[in-house]
Amino acid sequence: MINPYGGYNFKRKVVVITGGAGGIGRSLALKLSSMGARIVILDSDEVQMSAVVNKIEQGSAVATGLTCDVSDEQQVSQSFATIIAEFGHIDVLVNNAGITHQSIFSDTELSVIERVFAVNYYGAVYCTKYALPSLTEQRGMIITLSSMSGFVPLSNQSAYNASKHALHGFFESLRLELQEQVHIMLVCPGFTATDMRKRALQGDGSTAKEPFTVLGKMSSPGSVADAIYHGAVHYKRLLILSNLGRRARWLALVLPTLYEKLLLRRLNCH
Ligand code: NAI
Repeated sequence: MINPYGGYNFKRKVVVITGGAGGIGRSLALKLSSMGARIVILDSDEVQMSAVVNKIEQGSAVATGLTCDVSDEQQVSQSFATIIAEFGHIDVLVNNAGITHQSIFSDTELSVIERVFAVNYYGAVYCTKYALPSLTEQRGMIITLSSMSGFVPLSNQSAYNASKHALHGFFESLRLELQEQVHIMLVCPGFTATDMRKRALQGDGSTAKEPFTVLGKMSSPGSVADAIYHGAVHYKRLLILSNLGRRARWLALVLPTLYEKLLLRRLNCH
C-alpha cells in the first residue's frame, strides 16, 4: 500500500503530462511545477508546448517538451525511452490528452469514432504500458482525465462517451491488478473553459465551426488543476469535480429514464 497518510509530495517528482500544451494539461503543468515537480509534456502541438515549457523554465522549474502523437504507439515508445534516458525514472503519469466530436452516431463516419478512441483510449493505454515498469519501481501514480461522460450517457458524443467509459473499465481493472503498487486516480471534470470544444470533430471529420453548447457552469482550467493537485496529494481514487456530474451520476444510476428525459429537455431548451 502506498503511504495513504503522509500525503503525496510532488517535490522533484518526474511528472509526465500528455496534452500539456493547452487547456487543463497546461494548467496542471504550471501547478505541479510550482509545487517543485519536474515536468515532461508530451503533445502534438509543438508551438504551444514550447510556450508552456518556456513559461515553466522562466519560473526556474524544470520542464521538457516532447512532440508526440499519443495515438501512435511508436512515437509513445520512443518518447518514454527518451524520458527514462534523460530523467532516469517516472513518478507520475497524467493521461490528459483528449479530443471530442459533436455529431449523432448515424451522421458520424467510423474514422471519427476510431480517431477519438485512438487518442482518448489507446493514447492512455500506450502511455501507461511504457511508463508502468518505472511507475511500479517508484510506487508512483497514474492520473487519468475522464469526464462525466465516463459514467452517464450524453447525446451527440457517443464515441467520446464510450472512450471515457472504456478508461474507467481499463483503469479500475488495472488498479485491481496492481494492488496499490501504483496509485490510480480517475478525474471527471465538469465543463471547463478550454479549446476542446473549438477543436471538436464533426461527423465527417472536419472541425466544428461553432463550439457546442454546454450544460451547467463552466470551470476554469486553473481551478480543475488545483482540484487535481489536491486529489493527488490525498490519494483520491475518483474525483468528480462538478455538482452537475455528481447529481447526474446518481440520477442515471437510480432513475435512468428520468435522467434521459431531463437531459433531452435541457438540450432542447438551447
Ligand atoms: P484541450 O483541447 O484544451 O487540450 C488538449 C491538449 O491535448 C492540447 O494541447 C492538444 O494539442 C493535445 N492533444 C490532442 N490530441 C493529441 C494527441 N493525439 N497526442 C498528443 N497530444 C494531443 O482539451 P482540455 O479541455 O484541456 O481536455 C483535457 C482532458 O480533459 C481531455 O481528456 C478531456 O476529455 C478532459 N475533459 C475536458 C473537459 C472540458 O470541458 N474541457 C470536461 C471533462 C473532461
